[in-house]
Amino acid sequence: MRALLISRDPQLHAEIASQGAARVPPLHIAAGRDGLRDALDRPLPEHPGLVIVDAADADAADADLLERLTRHYAAAHFMLLTDNHHPELLIRAMRAGVREVLQLPLVHRALHEAIDRIAASAGVTASRDGKVLAFIACKGGSGATFIATNFGYALATLADKKVLLIDLHRQFGDATLYVSDQKPSMTLSDVCQQIARIDAPFLDSCLVHVAPGFGVLAAADDPAQAVEAKPEHIDAILRVARQHYDYILLDIGRQIDAVSLRALDSTDAIYPVLQLALPDIRHARRLLDIFRSLGYVTDHIRLVVNRYEKGGKLRLQDLHAALGAEVVHTVPNDYIAVTDSVNQGIPVLQLARGSAAARSLADLVEVLTARRVAEAKNGLFDRLFGRGEA
Ligand SMILES: Nc1ncnc2c1ncn2[C@@H]1O[C@H](COP(=O)(O)OP(=O)(O)OP(=O)(O)O)[C@@H](O)[C@H]1O
Ligand SMILES: [Mg+2]
Repeated sequence: MRALLISRDPQLHAEIASQGAARVPPLHIAAGRDGLRDALDRPLPEHPGLVIVDAADADAADADLLERLTRHYAAAHFMLLTDNHHPELLIRAMRAGVREVLQLPLVHRALHEAIDRIAASAGVTASRDGKVLAFIACKGGSGATFIATNFGYALATLADKKVLLIDLHRQFGDATLYVSDQKPSMTLSDVCQQIARIDAPFLDSCLVHVAPGFGVLAAADDPAQAVEAKPEHIDAILRVARQHYDYILLDIGRQIDAVSLRALDSTDAIYPVLQLALPDIRHARRLLDIFRSLGYVTDHIRLVVNRYEKGGKLRLQDLHAALGAEVVHTVPNDYIAVTDSVNQGIPVLQLARGSAAARSLADLVEVLTARRVAEAKNGLFDRLFGRGEA
């Protein structure tokens, strides 16, 4: 879609242009004008699909100009950016047919949601509506990377989903090695370095392709040399990914920093992975406290107990009581199958299909995809599905 941007603020212009360019399909800022009068004096020969008006330093006369402009570009969608100082202008704008009003300073997510609505009503549809699921180890070695990578493979091969896994470990990210013997030629750091190029083909070209529907974006192998990922890079990558993958799995590692927080903010569900032992439970409690303080709804936090053995001293009910979050799944302790798989870099489902670990991951695929179908059908089913201990 082509847009006309009316603003005196070069920084805002650059911001909207780069956010627009990162979209799929991109929103192209075809022209810029200094103000509404300038826009009326110099109309575009080819009408834009969207007109974005920065009303930060608008005055009373601008309401008339805005009305004239909406009549001139009668087929275009209008978006008004305002700092709330002009209620009169706002009312007149709404009457003139402006349907999207966004607050300044600009919140990127709000901008994209507004463009999504406009694109949907203009018939420019996003292709997929990918879900972002984060896996986070409550304690070192809980098994988050094993589960995230092998679950990604299972989702792609058993449920025929298009899956992307992003390794967000800051140091020693090794997710690709769990399921592949290929050395990544590109990493998250390379994508961040060339973030202006981000689109589906570019993202795909940076992945290690583990199976036809499953690609992994590797972590930077040398953090000292690497371009640091920034929260806005993560936004741009996830935006493209959501439109082209059914599931985007994040292997968060254990660090909580600006990047992992931004990633967690964008997730549809968080899967903390822990083992049924007191140190793990203590770490899990701290992690859940952080999530609560950040305002994450408990409903989105789904515990996975790894290396689970029935009949232990600690029971799943104790865990539920201690943490106040639901255990959605258990993965059994399966030393031989998992160690063989991890050591050879072959997904456990491929190496030992009948093993307890592989069967458990297949169950998790079923729980998750059933949940998604149910969510689509009826919100009530969401509460009934997939909550039992597997
Ligand atoms: N279900 C399981 N049964 C047996 N062994 C397992 C199981 N899950 C994981 N392991 C073993 O635990 C080790 C650590 O797992 P993994 O690397 O996935 O942990 P992590 O939570 O990602 O750790 P880190 O905090 O280092 O990122 C693996 O090398 C694997 O051999
Ligand atoms: Mg890990």
